Amino acid sequence: MEEKIIIPENQGNATVLAEQLGHSRKLYLESYGCQMNFSDSEIVASILSESGFGTTKNSEEADVILLNTCSIREKAEQTVRNRLNAFRKQKKENPSLVVGVLGCMAERMKKTLLDEEKLVDLVVGPDAYRDLPNLISEVDSGQKAVNVLLSREETYADVNPVRLGSNGITAFISIMRGCDNMCSFCVVPFTRGRERSRNPLSIVAEAKELFNSGYREVTLLGQNVDSYRWNLNKKGEVEDENQPTVNFAQLMEMVAKVDSKLRIRFSTSHPKDMTNDVLHVMAKYSNICEYIHLPVQSGNSEVLEKMNRGYTRDWYLERIEAIKTILPNAAISTDIICGFCSETEDQHNDTLSLMKMIKYDFAYHFFYSERPKTLAERKYEDDIPVDVKKRRLREVTEIQRAHSLMHNQKYIGKVQEILIEGPSRKSDAQFCGRNSQNAMVVFDRGETKPGDYISVLIEDCTAATLFGSIVEN
Ligand code: SAH
Ligand code: SF4
Ligand code: F3S
Repeated sequence: MEEKIIIPENQGNATVLAEQLGHSRKLYLESYGCQMNFSDSEIVASILSESGFGTTKNSEEADVILLNTCSIREKAEQTVRNRLNAFRKQKKENPSLVVGVLGCMAERMKKTLLDEEKLVDLVVGPDAYRDLPNLISEVDSGQKAVNVLLSREETYADVNPVRLGSNGITAFISIMRGCDNMCSFCVVPFTRGRERSRNPLSIVAEAKELFNSGYREVTLLGQNVDSYRWNLNKKGEVEDENQPTVNFAQLMEMVAKVDSKLRIRFSTSHPKDMTNDVLHVMAKYSNICEYIHLPVQSGNSEVLEKMNRGYTRDWYLERIEAIKTILPNAAISTDIICGFCSETEDQHNDTLSLMKMIKYDFAYHFFYSERPKTLAERKYEDDIPVDVKKRRLREVTEIQRAHSLMHNQKYIGKVQEILIEGPSRKSDAQFCGRNSQNAMVVFDRGETKPGDYISVLIEDCTAATLFGSIVEN
């Protein structure tokens, strides 16, 4: 058994607190939702490790359980509530166990989460993680603790993330936080606050450090990476007088130059903001992966207008044309929402026809879930019956499955360059890794190791995976 130190009430000295708070205490952290949440959990682990908390993968031996939550759809919140129930017994047996809810659901529900989920001691929004050590000590002293303040500046640029559950090869780097777009269906602007970019020099430094520790792929994360912007003059950090501001294309170039053996990915691109400059930088550097996630949401311009997406069907198709012209080998994926408020059969069919025109390599699709406070919740009726939403979703899923299979089949007989990520899920004798286009490839491991770039001849596939064998370079 680990020894526990109970912090006396009102122990004012912050340094003493920092040293004693986490001494021998174990933190169990679970993440839901998007990649940004997983990236944030690594920031949380880092902040708490400074206070002496070690992480554990076993919730039963934890002294602090934190769930980093998602609010994007109702189902995501229900998952978290079910998960909280699973900890009820442990809390009863060990009343000093701290149970906290972090992330988007914490920010959306604030104090009401404490009222609705009696088990919860701690509610912390995405911009308040630096306050976690103080908040945990408040809970230790017998109070419930809440901090859901959003910030206009916080980017955690100086926090060195603890890489959780990492394969040691691929890592996320947050390049910005928040979102200013106000798509009418989306809760993110409310849970993540205003958009702000992170200092590019700290992004490049993080990429360099990852490369030096053996990582070979970074994914640059933001809700809308194309609106990344940093003014280097702002804080006297001018490197080049002629380049006072850094946009996403320039940032990506800076990261691509860290090392030609460091692959770069990014997510998410926004159709209204994605520039040809970004596509040209992708074409210029072979270590920037030829893969773009460009969520369309709907193939009908009236629905897009109602969604407040800032583009039309034709504009989106023109952006796809630009990708296909500048990066003919690029894979393209998307997000689609079925059954948004008042969506007609014809409008839904426009989404299907757009899919058939573009033939995405991959798609994430959802049926519309009304979220509190959003523009759509206030202005439009959620009037498409669930069975219709689900049927439309099925139609989208079926088309996508056929397209994914078609794309994978085109690799058969071709040699692909793969970055090895680690053992495949099904067998230790096999490794898996991705090609530049983000397709997952499984093959017998031979003499190779994770982090190697190897050539694989593709021999077989399903809609989700490619299978092949290593060939000599
Ligand atoms: N920033 C990204 C998306 C982040 S949310 C972008 O702009 O594309 C990820 C996806 O969840 C969205 O692309 C959308 O397809 C889906 N989504 C968001 N809100 C939703 C809602 N209320 N109901 C169903 N799906 C939703
Ligand atoms: Fe949500 Fe739109 Fe922002 Fe994406 S761009 S996070 S969908 S508001
Ligand atoms: Fe979910 Fe928040 Fe991401 S709502 S999708 S975890 S930004």
